Amino acid sequence: MNPLTIDIQRLQREINELALITEAEPPVVTRVLFSEADIRGREFVKSLCCEAGLALRADAVGNIFARWDGTNGSLATVATGSHIDAIPNAGKFDGVVGVLGAIEAIRALKKSSYQPRRAIELIIFTAEEPTRFGIGCIGSRLLSGVLSPERAATFRDRDGKSLDEWRQGAGYTGSLAAVRLPKDCYAAFVELHIEQGPILEQENTAIGIVEKIAAPSTLRMQLTGVGGHAGAVLMPGRRDAGLAGAEIALAVERTVIGTGSPDTVGTTGVFRIEPGAVNSVPSRALLEIDVRDTKLATRDAALAQIETAAAEICKRRHVTLQTDRLNADPPAICDGSLVKTVADVCRQLGVSHKKMISRAYHDTLFMAQVCPSTMIFIPCRDGVSHRPDEFSSSEQIEPGVRVLAQTLAQTTG
Ligand code: GLV
Ligand code: MN
Ligand code: MN
Repeated sequence: MNPLTIDIQRLQREINELALITEAEPPVVTRVLFSEADIRGREFVKSLCCEAGLALRADAVGNIFARWDGTNGSLATVATGSHIDAIPNAGKFDGVVGVLGAIEAIRALKKSSYQPRRAIELIIFTAEEPTRFGIGCIGSRLLSGVLSPERAATFRDRDGKSLDEWRQGAGYTGSLAAVRLPKDCYAAFVELHIEQGPILEQENTAIGIVEKIAAPSTLRMQLTGVGGHAGAVLMPGRRDAGLAGAEIALAVERTVIGTGSPDTVGTTGVFRIEPGAVNSVPSRALLEIDVRDTKLATRDAALAQIETAAAEICKRRHVTLQTDRLNADPPAICDGSLVKTVADVCRQLGVSHKKMISRAYHDTLFMAQVCPSTMIFIPCRDGVSHRPDEFSSSEQIEPGVRVLAQTLAQTTG
């Protein structure tokens, strides 16, 4: 294969251009699933895929596949990809580096006259972020069969609008049952992503190769108390759903710290009270609680403890509680031989690297159930992510794209 030329300036321009497609005022990036910005972002990425000579198709939930056919159609495809949806108040690199970086990797391979024997497919996954429906990785969950089409059809956003309504409105029709991948469809999956943690930067290492992804879970708690006039309802008689929620949020913190493991984390990232008037006792509260750990047993014990604490708090405060476990996933173990392939590529290219755990979740968590999978991490400034000041430099992105391109070549040649 001829040497690869990565056009990092062009990639950086494309990252900047996509960042301008946002529901918020730039530099804030907000692209919630199937919002107008998400749809325009998808169009932008699709146009780059077309220019790169890739064949496009999409499935019923809106996962987009951009394909470069191999010379041997009987061999399983190698896939790469990530997401372009972004949580409220996000930055421009989370997910995007793995999508636009993969397009640049493919362009570099094409420019070097490389001819893959296996097809290469870039997947732009639907809803890696949980913002609209409270659960993340909807596209990869359906692809892997972890999420049933029947359950997906029950998803409603906070305005009661269903996944079916949203996807059909965005032009993704057909049966969700058809999204699941056929067996042995992919020979491998590799996702390029920013680390979203500080280790690579602190250790001045160019590439992280992911061996394991921590186990995520989400609880949704709906609390119903009794509202009333903030002046007229005296304190002893109150059934304040907001205060019960506040106690639950503190119980989450107490529980995860109480495991004694630095790997247990818990976040009450959604906490809404109704009616939301200063002179009205909160009658309802909605909490969404994210709990993760690298060890499944510790995570599960923390979840159970939080549920018990919430039940006790609500009983004591005479507030009714409905708890739903939106997801409670096991950790993913990446494929040892694919991890070794990426490490060998790093050695060949003279790029510093280390094996690591991902504390964030990714579509790889579910692709790992379907085929040998791993991730290529690049450093980001101060480990910051899910914030507008998220940043990776061109010098940090370039080795990631190069290692991805070379890994694609190695696994498809
Ligand atoms: C993904 O965005 C995560 O929350 O880990
Ligand atoms: Mn994210
Ligand atoms: Mn991401």
